[in-house]
Amino acid sequence: MKRVAILISGGGSNMLALVRDMVEGRYARPVLVVSNDPQAKGLEKAADLGVTIAAVDHRPFGKNREAFETALAKEIDAANPDILCLAGFMRILTPGFIRRYQGKMLNIHPSLLPKYPGLHTHARALAAGDSEAGCTVHEVTAELDAGPLIGQARVPVLPGDTEDTLAARVLTQEHRLYPQVLRRFATGDRTPLLLP
Ligand code: GRF
Repeated sequence: MKRVAILISGGGSNMLALVRDMVEGRYARPVLVVSNDPQAKGLEKAADLGVTIAAVDHRPFGKNREAFETALAKEIDAANPDILCLAGFMRILTPGFIRRYQGKMLNIHPSLLPKYPGLHTHARALAAGDSEAGCTVHEVTAELDAGPLIGQARVPVLPGDTEDTLAARVLTQEHRLYPQVLRRFATGDRTPLLLP
């Protein structure tokens, strides 16, 4: 059974969706939830579900990204995962780290990539007057938010939407999309899943 490590920075709602789906579908096993923030709320939620957790605080490393990533990789490799899922992980990873896990690392991004890589995706969609928004699961490559697309879900932008109402609508789809993509990815299927 494929072993999955999940990287989080905050509440971990995507992580919870993934862990619950793996427990239910038994197609893979969550072997680690690790955060760059020891206070991340998702860590206690993962522990409550019986998943091994770890935290590597990025702050003591300052600008030395490589040193932080060496400590992070040590925790990850101790769990010996086949797949890594970035889920609300808010640190930019260096090409060296990404090369280490290339081909087995996924990320979920709250926009219809290639539109709006980076931050504040919902504000940008609203400012542009887009009629649609959504989320994308992609393989992680050295270029930020630009790896091969393997899943996408769309939502309508509604009149009166704020950043928060749109983010909530997209987040619901994230929790639908990511587990379905992981199920396929765990079988080696990388064909894009486009949810209606
Ligand atoms: C979500 O919008 C996700 O797309 C982005 O981080 C936000 C929080 O995710 N990557 P989570 O609730 O911590 O999973």
